[in-house]
Amino acid sequence: MTPATAATGVQPRPVRHNPPAPASAIGYTLAKVTGSPSSDFPADLQRIDFDALYRGESPGAGIPPMSKPPWDTKAPKDNVIAWQNGGWVHGNVLDVGCGLGDNAVYLAQHGYCVTALDISPTALTTAQRRASDAGVDVTFAVADATMLHGYTDAFDTVIDSGMFHCLDDDGKRSYATAVHRATRADATLLISCFCDANPAHEDWPRPAVSEQTLRAVLDDTGWDIESLETVTVRREIDGAETEMAFWYVRARRRAAV
Ligand SMILES: C[S@@+](CC[C@H](N)C(=O)[O-])C[C@H]1O[C@@H](n2cnc3c(N)ncnc32)[C@H](O)[C@@H]1O
Repeated sequence: MTPATAATGVQPRPVRHNPPAPASAIGYTLAKVTGSPSSDFPADLQRIDFDALYRGESPGAGIPPMSKPPWDTKAPKDNVIAWQNGGWVHGNVLDVGCGLGDNAVYLAQHGYCVTALDISPTALTTAQRRASDAGVDVTFAVADATMLHGYTDAFDTVIDSGMFHCLDDDGKRSYATAVHRATRADATLLISCFCDANPAHEDWPRPAVSEQTLRAVLDDTGWDIESLETVTVRREIDGAETEMAFWYVRARRRAAV
């Protein structure tokens, strides 16, 4: 069984490696716009206007608008399903960088009390509608994950499906510190982010987070990594099936930083 099969339960299909840059794949587009790849991810990504992106407008100078964000699968992500099935979700849940809300809806359907935060009010309008259509209650609010103002000692599980790699190095540290403050003793932090195992492509580097960065950021901010694995996921982007490597991280909150 390939890692992709293990992660998704679907049989592998032919995939396109190192595809040309699809206009809607934010990683490629941003890398092109911001120049050569940095150590982990173009720092300029933090200046991306996610709300403009969700409004269907250009999210930054020189970046074309997208008709639909590439992560809008209208379904919970495989990583979130795997975390739930693995028994790693417990207590009060924070979905940080929740986007269009499908992961939050899925966890609410499984009986969790879910707070879902995103920096984009436009994304949250759609997320709220999807929760309402699904008949579940989710508390949605606009918040910057690098600060999480107003949330202290509130959550037992944090899920981060695809937000960590949107932050630059300082943002990653601020975020990990903020979620430490926002969580209770023994909380679990579950992150899925782009991995630097993705094949290199000179013109179109993918967003990438190194193992070293993950370990340093989390260790320095009060999180013990209990599990760290790479998983290959196949997604259709602009009609082409594309293979992407992700880190799946499970970390436990230490009492003291
Ligand atoms: C790749 S999308 C993933 C969305 C969703 N979690 C999913 O699995 O489909 C990343 C999300 O993080 C949000 N985001 C980026 N930076 C953020 C920040 N500093 N605070 C809160 N949300 C942020 C974006 O608005 C976007 O919705």
